[in-house]
Amino acid sequence: RPRVLSGIQPTAGSFHLGNYLGALRQWVALQETHDAFYCVVDLHAITVAQDPKVLRQNTRVSAAQLLALGIDPERSALFVQSHVPEHAQLGWVMQCLTGFGEAGRMTQFKDKSARQEAGVGVGLFTYPILQAADILLYQAHHVPVGEDQRQHLELTRDLAQRFNTRYGKTFRLPEPYIVKDTAKIYDLQDPTSKMSKSVPAGVVELLDDPKRSAKKIRSAVTDTGREIVYDPEHKAGVSNLLVIHSALSGESVDSLVARFEGKGYGDLKKELGEVFTEFVTPVQARVDAYLADLPELDKVLARGAERAREVASRTLARTYERIGFLART
Ligand code: TYM
Repeated sequence: RPRVLSGIQPTAGSFHLGNYLGALRQWVALQETHDAFYCVVDLHAITVAQDPKVLRQNTRVSAAQLLALGIDPERSALFVQSHVPEHAQLGWVMQCLTGFGEAGRMTQFKDKSARQEAGVGVGLFTYPILQAADILLYQAHHVPVGEDQRQHLELTRDLAQRFNTRYGKTFRLPEPYIVKDTAKIYDLQDPTSKMSKSVPAGVVELLDDPKRSAKKIRSAVTDTGREIVYDPEHKAGVSNLLVIHSALSGESVDSLVARFEGKGYGDLKKELGEVFTEFVTPVQARVDAYLADLPELDKVLARGAERAREVASRTLARTYERIGFLART
């Protein structure tokens, strides 16, 4: 079976609709066809300052959400990145392969560092290189992510290719797995920019009170027109709502447009609020159940890390050997 790897940051505690529709839904689906490795990337989280207690709690809350959304720990290795030290180890090797200018061209770094008021750490700069190591350790064929990660995957492929050319074929070149329709979910208050936890105005969080989320949806920014049609360029807000509705309900955008003919934006928003509430209510109940038994949750993560390490340690050993590191006897 082909391999798949992906990761998500635990920083916000709750995941948002962009995370779910852009990536996590695909994580769940790919378990059927792939050997899956999914991690909560706590090493990535500390590229910006974290309160230790909050980080630990959010890491568990993240794992519980992944389970609640349908990640099956029997089939997939679900783990915490820092439990598998090979990530940091291969990360170092990859850093030594990356050009300074190359790292500087990463647009997420530019955005994030521009937003940071306090000092920007070197970790934020080398962040995508650690991500490359995450992926390459597992020889992943596919990496399910949203559109915003495409450039990081290109860097990953470049680094794998560079290593292979210099030291002999060691790493598989991974393919991004990006589902076009939901690759970029937009902010409800600013439908020209992506929904993002770092710009929290119009973000729909999975763990928020569904009533509050329904209210956020009802006050989503649309336009001064009145027709419900799919036209991302001229009607970004309405189109975003249609995409979200379609993804959650399974009804096609065309069918939604036909059904809402002659109706108003308010009707669409109200129904989407209901669709979202119906989706998220059982998810929240499952999250609570997983968080009610922390010893069991930690055990699931420990097993996941063990499975991940089996694969990761093999790749790292081969890499060290290729580089010319003296074997420890
Ligand atoms: P993160 O934690 O910011 O986001 C997790 C996933 O959610 C996707 N996503 C979106 N998709 C569509 N619309 C949006 N508005 C939206 N916002 C977020 C992201 O594309 C991502 O797939 N660097 C990664 C984490 C990472 C990783 C990895 C991913 C670390 N190592 C290895 C893949 C493979 C990140 O910060 O994702």
